[in-house]
Amino acid sequence: MSAVEPPPGAGPAFDATVFRRVIGNFMTGVVVITTVDDGAPCGMTVSAVSSLSLEPPMLLVCLSAASATQEAVLRSGRFAVNILAEHQGHIAERFARAGSEDKFADLATRTGRTGVPLLADVLATVECRIAEVVGGGTHRVFLAEAVHAEATEGSPLAYFRGEFGKFELGLDAEVYRRLRRSILDRRFGADEPLQVEQLAAQLSVSPSSVYYALTRLVGDKLVSRDPQRGHVVTPLDVATSDDVLDARLAIELGAAELVGDRLSAEQLRELRELAAATGSHVRDGRFGDVEGFIDASHAFHRFLVDATGVRSLVDAYERLSLPDLLARALPGVTDPDPRLITDHVDLVEALERADLPAVRRVLTAHNERAKAVQRAGIERRGGQL
Ligand SMILES: Cc1cc2nc3c(=O)[nH]c(=O)nc-3n(C[C@H](O)[C@H](O)[C@H](O)COP(=O)(O)O)c2cc1C
Repeated sequence: MSAVEPPPGAGPAFDATVFRRVIGNFMTGVVVITTVDDGAPCGMTVSAVSSLSLEPPMLLVCLSAASATQEAVLRSGRFAVNILAEHQGHIAERFARAGSEDKFADLATRTGRTGVPLLADVLATVECRIAEVVGGGTHRVFLAEAVHAEATEGSPLAYFRGEFGKFELGLDAEVYRRLRRSILDRRFGADEPLQVEQLAAQLSVSPSSVYYALTRLVGDKLVSRDPQRGHVVTPLDVATSDDVLDARLAIELGAAELVGDRLSAEQLRELRELAAATGSHVRDGRFGDVEGFIDASHAFHRFLVDATGVRSLVDAYERLSLPDLLARALPGVTDPDPRLITDHVDLVEALERADLPAVRRVLTAHNERAKAVQRAGIERRGGQL
């Protein structure tokens, strides 16, 4: 526990680090403040934002007087608050970097009614005009009137103790888990529509909880959105499974190219342990615990991608939702190819030798075996899950 009490009669005697650590216990959302300055878009990441008044609708933001975006906001008299969604931590990081680099490069934006840039795919946007500016220590507090506001469904990016995270209501998370389990256990047919109202009645929960769960399941690729029929269970066939595994291979080959010959002794030791863990779930040529195997296999495969430190590559890898892909097909597999496990060990050995051609060979052969095992699982269950 950090103490922040100033001694009696003295000024604030605790230092900024302590204050930052203590105040970090206050969980916030994360926004990007955007504006235009002489025709050029500007923006910065901010957590010090709060609603202020309903009539008129007002909010306040606290911006460092040293920030270039703050100067631009002051000059233009208007700004937008872009409330980030849970998957947009990388955008928060990008807009937290000071300087002249074009923070908007490759980012989809549109122009709001007040002429300021709005980021695409955010959870909500509020366009504001400055009503008053108040000084506060190193910062300026902008009291602003909201002139236009829009929101979409989704979950916010949370910020707590210096880390980005996800925020979810306990009940929403439970509904998500139950629907996910039902799909993996094939209690819905392939391509079956999932009606929000009907599921809400069946589960005795609010439609918004079901909608939240379905939105997350779309991210997991277990559910798709059909323009006519709404949410449907994503059918899994051999071609789809092959496609995802080929994408995994491409990412892993890329990761191997980046770091395959420069893993530290500590990283190699960790990877060897992860390889051994995958083997512990297969006994006498059978899966002892399919879910345990899937988790262990995911941790093993992800390690190399994580080791690159390239966030977009890790995100792309996660978006493949490999654990769910395997969880749908592997329960139909009775006799997994034992080389699926020995490949993991062979890969570690090739990495220990920094032998990139061997790394590529093992990864490629392993992918063919993984595809064959998935194919067997899917075909055993009728060709489409
Ligand atoms: C999660 C997070 C929250 C932040 N919140 C604020 C804030 O409330 N006010 C502020 O002035 N800066 C905040 N920052 C820091 C600014 O984003 C950072 O100083 C940025 O470099 C300013 O960019 P600029 O100088 O190009 O305008 C935050 C950064 C992060 C990562």
